[in-house]
Amino acid sequence: MDPELPGDESWLVKTEGVPLPRQTTEKWDQISAFQARPDDLLICTFPKSGTSWIQEIVDIILHGGDLQKCDQLPIYERSPFIELFLPKPVVSGVDEAEAMPSPRVLKTHLPAPLLPPSFWKQNCKMIYLARNVKDNAVSTFNFHRMNKLLPNPGDWNNFLEDFIAGRCWYGSWFDHVCGWWEAKNHHPILYLFYEDMKEDLAREIKKVAQFMDVELPEPVLNRIVKHTKFESMKVNPAVNYTTVPDCLMDQTISPFMRKGIVGDWKEHFTVAQSERLDEICTQLLKESGLTFRTEL
Ligand code: A3P
Repeated sequence: MDPELPGDESWLVKTEGVPLPRQTTEKWDQISAFQARPDDLLICTFPKSGTSWIQEIVDIILHGGDLQKCDQLPIYERSPFIELFLPKPVVSGVDEAEAMPSPRVLKTHLPAPLLPPSFWKQNCKMIYLARNVKDNAVSTFNFHRMNKLLPNPGDWNNFLEDFIAGRCWYGSWFDHVCGWWEAKNHHPILYLFYEDMKEDLAREIKKVAQFMDVELPEPVLNRIVKHTKFESMKVNPAVNYTTVPDCLMDQTISPFMRKGIVGDWKEHFTVAQSERLDEICTQLLKESGLTFRTEL
């Protein structure tokens, strides 16, 4: 067990300096050697930034707005999570992706420097979705409560300290959002914000379609907006993870589609925690020029 990392199980192991699930670390050579194809579209996020939301939007655009086709399989089968390895019954993101026909939509939470190099070499399009750190922390806390593969987060105050310090899975939120922000200077990356999507979903879906070189007639756009609103996704078994057994995700503790809002952090943060995190954001985001909205 790494004494610097939280959790009573040795489930997190540092890989190239970033805490990752042990199973991912054990398969690291295979993940790093993953062969991207030039027409792959990669969705990249820090966990709990709205990954499933953007996965669903991209998949529907790719299928020309055919909702029935998309809803036949859960989202995690339509766009494999490349660095995910679970024990029996074995789930291997790399194997699932390799078995898929092109064009593939793939998902990763890896920080930019840890991405399998072939994605850069093949010049694959990538969509990065970022969410403000306060809501991201709250969503992550609740996900740790319900996801039985992740360690119990314990008390919120301690969890927040671990989260800010980058001791939770995938490491520092700051390094993640800044690393991908920098990567877009030399690579075709569409960098989106959760808060913008909440503000005007149609506008952001249009950006995604344009990036994918797909024409979206107005009725199709309207259909996608209706289908990917929080209220629709919350009750859609193809995206709400209710197809995952309760022993892995206990949605009675906290649903996967929990609140889906900007500003829920206000229910959890003390004034002191909020002010301190604002200061840390000012310091750590300054160089990048990145700014986040924490309310709409
Ligand atoms: P909350 O826990 O704040 O509700 P991920 O898919 O990366 O795991 O992110 C999950 C978070 O995105 C959850 O946040 C979930 O509710 C939110 N989310 C998923 N679909 C959404 C949608 N259509 N609109 C708004 N938020 C959504």
